[in-house]
Amino acid sequence: MGGPILAIETSCDETAAAVVDGRRILSNVIASQAELHSPYGGVVPEVAARHHLGTVNGVIDAALDGAGLELGDVDAIAVTQRPGLIGALLIGVATAKAIAYAAGKPLVMVDHLHGHIAASWLEPVALDPPFVSLIASGGHTRLDLVTDLRAPQPLGQTIDDAAGEAIDKGARLLGLGYPGGPALERLAATGSRTAHEFPVGLRGGAVRDFSFAGVKTALLYAVRARGDGPLPEGERADLAASYQEAVVRPLADRLIAAAREQGVPAVALGGGVAANGRLRELVAEGAERAGLRVAVPDRSLCTDNAAMIGAAAQFTDAVPWPDFLGLDAVASAPPGGIAA
Ligand code: KG4
Ligand code: ZN
Repeated sequence: MGGPILAIETSCDETAAAVVDGRRILSNVIASQAELHSPYGGVVPEVAARHHLGTVNGVIDAALDGAGLELGDVDAIAVTQRPGLIGALLIGVATAKAIAYAAGKPLVMVDHLHGHIAASWLEPVALDPPFVSLIASGGHTRLDLVTDLRAPQPLGQTIDDAAGEAIDKGARLLGLGYPGGPALERLAATGSRTAHEFPVGLRGGAVRDFSFAGVKTALLYAVRARGDGPLPEGERADLAASYQEAVVRPLADRLIAAAREQGVPAVALGGGVAANGRLRELVAEGAERAGLRVAVPDRSLCTDNAAMIGAAAQFTDAVPWPDFLGLDAVASAPPGGIAA
């Protein structure tokens, strides 16, 4: 495509807009709603949608300003079409359609997961295929083989909870706030990873799928077994460390195993859980043993953002003006998991 792209992302609880030009990020603006949802212990879809509506135009203006561009300077508009909270997606898609229509530009409808995968293609990581990608976030956990960024090939995914969801639920059981990932990691740092042996879902050598429902239940029973009353800090830390290990170890092990099996030279991490230090450590160790390059984009590109949507847009067919007016947001993921 060539030339700058204005990208918009509103699939969950971040209102985000970015301008990217090829692999270069000219601006990347993210307005997080996390604090808004924190009292509820999770994202409230209706609240998210309403907040996007109030925020999206200002975020887009800030992205254009940050890039030093006017709307007329961009070649295309890109927006997350699916999957996500339907009300939240609709705000982004309706906004992007209106802007693209008014500016006479083509519109690129991007799959959110395709965005997470394409994030490591951006500078400075600038990873080129072939690689195996692990995306682990609050909503998704999946492995894809990427030989062509236009068409990631699904290798496996969670059959129940997402890894981030399991982390958040575990954090809640241990009395930590939402989102629980960073708090759980801090608590885990002072505990023992081997104090408790929590079950690993779908244990087995060649497995590429994930399951986190069992480990979550095991933590619940372990906390209940302690009876009423507050847990001593040391015990909480041991539970956090052992639980974190049970969630992130299969992620690292299966990512490395898949890369070896597929014969690719590199692995990439994405999604909010990629911020986890223990996951990064395990992936780095496994990759070193297997002689693989590890690509981990900056945290701001691992969690939800619009720069990654602008990256994936460059590997997605644009819909010409004004044909996109009939297109809409879609809550679900397509069969196989990615519409790319
Ligand atoms: O990609 P993301 O920002 O949002 C989506 O879910 O799409 O991912 C958020 C998830 C949450 O479940 C959060 O608890 C988890 O990423 N997370 C972490 C850490 N930081 C964020 N999990 C483990 N360790 C962390 N340091
Ligand atoms: Zn995401």
